[in-house]
Amino acid sequence: MIKAVDIVKASLRAGWAALCPKQDSDGHDADAQTLVPIRSLGPHQCHRIGAHLLSLNAADRYLRFGYAVQDAQILHYVDGLNFERDEVLGIFDRKLTLLAVAHLAYGQTYRSRGCAEFGVSVISRARGRGYGAGLFDCAAMHAVNQGVDTLLIHALTENIAMLNIARAAGARVVRDGAESEAYLELPQATLNSRIAEIVQANVADMDYRLKRQAKLLRDSLTT
Ligand SMILES: CC(C)(COP(=O)(O)OP(=O)(O)OC[C@H]1O[C@@H](n2cnc3c(N)ncnc32)[C@H](O)[C@@H]1OP(=O)(O)O)[C@@H](O)C(=O)NCCC(=O)NCCS
Repeated sequence: MIKAVDIVKASLRAGWAALCPKQDSDGHDADAQTLVPIRSLGPHQCHRIGAHLLSLNAADRYLRFGYAVQDAQILHYVDGLNFERDEVLGIFDRKLTLLAVAHLAYGQTYRSRGCAEFGVSVISRARGRGYGAGLFDCAAMHAVNQGVDTLLIHALTENIAMLNIARAAGARVVRDGAESEAYLELPQATLNSRIAEIVQANVADMDYRLKRQAKLLRDSLTT
C-alpha cells in the first residue's frame, strides 16, 4: 500500500521539477524556459488544432504527416481525432493560439507489445524554444502512466530536428531510406511519474485559465 508520506514527497518533488528551471553543474539555470505549460486538449479545442495545422506551410505539413497533405485532409484528420483513446497535447500563447500540438495515438502494437505513436508540430515562429522536446517528454510521461512499453516516432530521415529529439530521449533510430522510425523503450509507471502528470496538468490548467481571463478582459476592452 502507498503511504501518505510517499505521496507528499512525490508531490513536492514533482512540483519542484515542474516549477524550477533545470540547473547546470555550476548551479546556473540551464534553460530559463523550462516551465512550459502543456495542456491536454479536448474536442472543444478542435477549431484551434485545425487552425494550428492549417497554418503549417507545405514543407512542414510534409514533415508532420509524411505526405503533401491538403487543407481538406487536415480537417478530416482533426474531425477523426479520438480524444477518448488518444492524448492530444498543446502549448498556447497568451492569445490562446496553439503554438504547438502533439498527438499521442494509443492502440498501436510493436512486436506484440503496447505501443503509442507520437506526432508533433510547432509553428515556425516558436521553434528552437524546446517546445518540441517538451511535448515529447510530456507524451512519454503520459504513455508511461498508461502502461505503454514503447513510444514510436515515424519521421522522414531528413527531419533532423525530430530525430534529434527522439535520440536525445534515448530512442533507437532505424533508418529505411527516406524514412526512419524511432523506438523509445519506456520504463514502468511510478508514484513519481503519476504525481508529475497531475502536477503538470494542474500547472497547465491554471496557466490556461489565466490566459483565458486575460483574453476575455482584452476582448471586452476593445469592443
Ligand atoms: C520537429 C519540430 C517539432 C521541432 O520543434 P522545436 O520546438 O523547434 O524543437 P526543440 O526546440 O524542442 O528542439 C529539439 C532539438 O532539435 C534540435 N533542432 C531543432 N531544429 C533543428 C534543425 N532545424 N536542425 C537541427 N536540429 C534542430 C534542437 O537543437 C534541439 O536539440 P538540442 O536539445 O540538442 O539543442 C518542429 O521543427 C516542427 O514542427 N517541424 C515540422 C513538423 C515536423 O517535422 N514534425 C515531426 C514529425 S512527427
